[in-house]
Amino acid sequence: MPPNGPRLLQISDTHLFADPAAEQAGVVPELRLRATLRAMAPWAATADGLLHTGDLVHDGSPAGYQRLREALLALDLPGLVMPGNHDDRDQLQAAFATGPVTAARTLPLGEWTLIGLDSLQTGEVPGHLGEAELAALDRALADCTTAYCLVALHHPPFPVGTSWLDAIGLDNPAPLFQRLAADRRVRAVVCGHVHMAFDGRLNGFRTFATPATAAQFLAGAEAFATDRGPPGFRWFDLRADGGIDTGVVRVTGV
Ligand SMILES: [Fe+2]
Repeated sequence: MPPNGPRLLQISDTHLFADPAAEQAGVVPELRLRATLRAMAPWAATADGLLHTGDLVHDGSPAGYQRLREALLALDLPGLVMPGNHDDRDQLQAAFATGPVTAARTLPLGEWTLIGLDSLQTGEVPGHLGEAELAALDRALADCTTAYCLVALHHPPFPVGTSWLDAIGLDNPAPLFQRLAADRRVRAVVCGHVHMAFDGRLNGFRTFATPATAAQFLAGAEAFATDRGPPGFRWFDLRADGGIDTGVVRVTGV
């Protein structure tokens, strides 16, 4: 474990297809994932956990989930995955039912606990936390024995300043923030979905989003627009005093 506390690596929005040569939004997601994982390998050697915040697969294919699982396992880290709007929940849960990288609820990281939430509404682009998922969050917080927590879900419950994306985030942020505000151990909410980097604060929490390994979206755009920038991943150093050091690493040569 690094002296700065446990290190968590986040990737998001890998958007794989059954066909590894398939293109989406002008890029080949498989190639960009492979390049990102090569760049992550030296970081993984000093990391303690892995987080994937959804849109694992673009077409819901079992072959896509299987290739992604094998690729993530090569980092040799325990990890959590959670579905995004492009995922097939049943296929995702089947592929990540067991092993060090799973669709489990929590991942312990020293004095921190990572809690994953499922915001997928089948057939819809925006996210929603149903009553069962909110109850599962209540149980996870009640069972949590660590000093600090991070909560991760695909859809941001906060605006990122890009209007078309802010219209398709989590459609019921209020009950989530109500719960998190009641538990001061929760220090951050970590998301995917927006295919860009974001680092903000809301209601006393740190709020983060992380670039896709697939195509990037253009920050500040009023309608769908891609950004030709490179893929990336995020690292978090989870400090013993409850602070968070973090940054995004962009992958060159893709
Ligand atoms: Fe996505």
